[in-house]
Amino acid sequence: MTNIEHITALVTGANRGLGKRFAEQLVARGAKVYAGARRPDTVDIPGVIPIQLDITDPESVRRAAELAGDVNVLVNNAGVSTRAGLLDGAFEDVHLEMDTHFFGTLGVTRAFVPVIERSIAGGGGGAILNVLSVLSWFHPASSGAYSAAKAAAWAMTDAVRDELAPRGIHVAALHVGYMDTDMVSDIPADQKTDPAVVAELALDGLLSGATEIIGDELTRTVKAQMSSPRA
Ligand SMILES: NC(=O)c1ccc[n+]([C@@H]2O[C@H](COP(=O)([O-])OP(=O)(O)OC[C@H]3O[C@@H](n4cnc5c(N)ncnc54)[C@H](OP(=O)(O)O)[C@@H]3O)[C@@H](O)[C@H]2O)c1
Repeated sequence: MTNIEHITALVTGANRGLGKRFAEQLVARGAKVYAGARRPDTVDIPGVIPIQLDITDPESVRRAAELAGDVNVLVNNAGVSTRAGLLDGAFEDVHLEMDTHFFGTLGVTRAFVPVIERSIAGGGGGAILNVLSVLSWFHPASSGAYSAAKAAAWAMTDAVRDELAPRGIHVAALHVGYMDTDMVSDIPADQKTDPAVVAELALDGLLSGATEIIGDELTRTVKAQMSSPRA
């Protein structure tokens, strides 16, 4: 169990999709919530504090860390899916995936670790949740750039967890398959999970001290098969 009595959270990409569900549920749990968005005017969630945050822009990240100076829980949710293949996809898209999921998430984490440390200096713990994917573990050619970026973010999550454990900050990963958001609007509804259900499960996992949160059955199956040789 993480020792967090009152949550002050920052959620990245909180204006739509899974991030919006995280922000809504944190408010419902009594948290103070900063809703990070590239365009804060698109945040439409009662009870949150919208702040401008482009996770790939170091100046925007620096300003957000200054403005949201009392955060003790960081939800690294913002992401993109270009579906670029590694060999034939546009190289800018491959860069965008890495810039967002790996460097963007790491940049926000580096900026907010000192904020969380200051917030918990008087007692209590802090936490970071990184939204990863089933594709951190399964790497189809059709989403090669996305999968590689999520796999890199998975490795980063594990290493950062080790670095932060002695400093009182718990780090967890959410791995999940298709959710019903704009990112996969072309996928049939019966293959997608409700992002509100995933957000609730992920927050429960984070606050109970889980390190690896599995969001759906597909991801559970892929995880179970990871020790099998690749076909
Ligand atoms: N949907 C799925 O099936 C699925 C499955 C597994 C994991 N995920 C992961 O879940 C997370 C949320 O995705 P979603 O499904 O909610 O997708 P979504 O509906 O497309 O929302 C993506 C969010 O990320 C924001 N974002 C993108 N780049 C950003 C940047 N540079 N700085 C700040 N915000 C940025 C977007 O902001 P704008 O409105 O400004 O574009 C938007 O708020 C992502 O990490 C994604 O990889 C999704």
